[in-house]
Amino acid sequence: MKKNVIIPFLFIILVIGGGIMFWRSQQNDQVTEPQSKYTKEEQEKLDLLDNIQEKIDYFQMDDLNRYLEYKKGHPNLSVQDVVTRVNIGLDQPYYTNTKETPYLNQIYLLSNKYLYMPSDYVPENLESIASSCARSGMQLVQEAKEAFEELCQKAKEDGYVIRAMSSYRSYSYQEDLYNRYVEQDGQEEADTYSARPGFSEHQTGLVVDVDNKQIDYTDFEQTKEFKWMQENAHRFGFILRYPKDKEDITGYTYEAWHYRYVGVDIATYIHEHHMTFDEYYVQFIEGKK
Ligand code: DAL
Ligand code: ZN
Repeated sequence: MKKNVIIPFLFIILVIGGGIMFWRSQQNDQVTEPQSKYTKEEQEKLDLLDNIQEKIDYFQMDDLNRYLEYKKGHPNLSVQDVVTRVNIGLDQPYYTNTKETPYLNQIYLLSNKYLYMPSDYVPENLESIASSCARSGMQLVQEAKEAFEELCQKAKEDGYVIRAMSSYRSYSYQEDLYNRYVEQDGQEEADTYSARPGFSEHQTGLVVDVDNKQIDYTDFEQTKEFKWMQENAHRFGFILRYPKDKEDITGYTYEAWHYRYVGVDIATYIHEHHMTFDEYYVQFIEGKK
């Protein structure tokens, strides 16, 4: 072939070859483009929930329809609150879909109207609280006991009296107590202020009901000790477990006297964010510990 024919020929080959390669790379791009992991129907539902699954790691795809249903019934709640509450179980009546807690003997064990402890569960390391800080025979898990004694000591130094008047309660003790309340007030009423056996936080050994030795514990809110507890309890790892205005989340009427040990870090977070332990648990503990 002559030189003046070869050069245009090679040029044409080059142009055609380049064109084919470009076309194939375009085709490949289309094939490898990320596919949505959701069906069209799921994506439409997620859109109604503002695609909250991209922002929080406790969103459960299996509960998508429950979230939508709960949102419909609670249009004023944020989507995050909807997810939190459904994860707690609040879209179902109390004491339905109950599960045994997976965190026995941990300070972040949650017990509420959906999570229970076995009837033979007795926490490890129960110890008696010093008599200067408790009615006789009061026990707590060692870590909580030491924290409570420190709290009680510091309160004393500040001029306040904080005494444990109820703490660890066995399953059978709670059973007797609950049955007595049911007899007295009927089950519906009793359920608003007393836990059913297995569901009481007192069985965790991480809870104290306190008074100031002077007035009935149910009036604790009126005392200067209550004010001290509001400002200081979290510094020792305790939280007010059934706050006012959170009845719809905790499932219990306000208890100014019932304090739960969760450790200083969790207690401080809960205190600063004005949240309940039920909410903290589904956001930070469930499935992660
Ligand atoms: N009073 C609390 C809710 C209990 O019975 O454990
Ligand atoms: Zn209590």
